[in-house]
Amino acid sequence: MKNGVEEKVILELIEKAIEARKYAYAPYSNFMVGAAVLGCNGLIYIGCNIENASYGASNCAERTAIFKGISEGCTSFAGIAIVGGRKDEELIKCSPCGICRQVMSEFFDKSSQIILATDYDKYVIKSLDELLPCSFTEF
Ligand code: THU
Repeated sequence: MKNGVEEKVILELIEKAIEARKYAYAPYSNFMVGAAVLGCNGLIYIGCNIENASYGASNCAERTAIFKGISEGCTSFAGIAIVGGRKDEELIKCSPCGICRQVMSEFFDKSSQIILATDYDKYVIKSLDELLPCSFTEF
């Protein structure tokens, strides 16, 4: 157990993120990302990045996965595994972009684990506080 999410679940999230990455639609950057988020309801939602010829219309893997969960009634998450790397190359540590961090701040809490994986069993865990300190949460 590592701060809430059991190690075997962490490994399952990484495996699912690697699987999701295969569906990445990234013909413009060739950077393929996969994510798997664990809902507090125990379900796992997966996502990939989805690019667009109009670049700004693209969506990151993390938000794809999180929005899938939200759209199915799950609005709190215990952890997310993220994997990324250029097409046909090894995974590199893929830290979430600022927009995804802000979205996480809405639906994750202090104990939620952000798992940055570079292989099935190689990962580091970050908290949202580390990735997005002093965040804007309410007005
Ligand atoms: N991307 C993600 O999906 N997640 C990240 O954490 C970083 C970046 C995507 C967006 C774009 O499709 C490609 O990677 C290159 O930025």
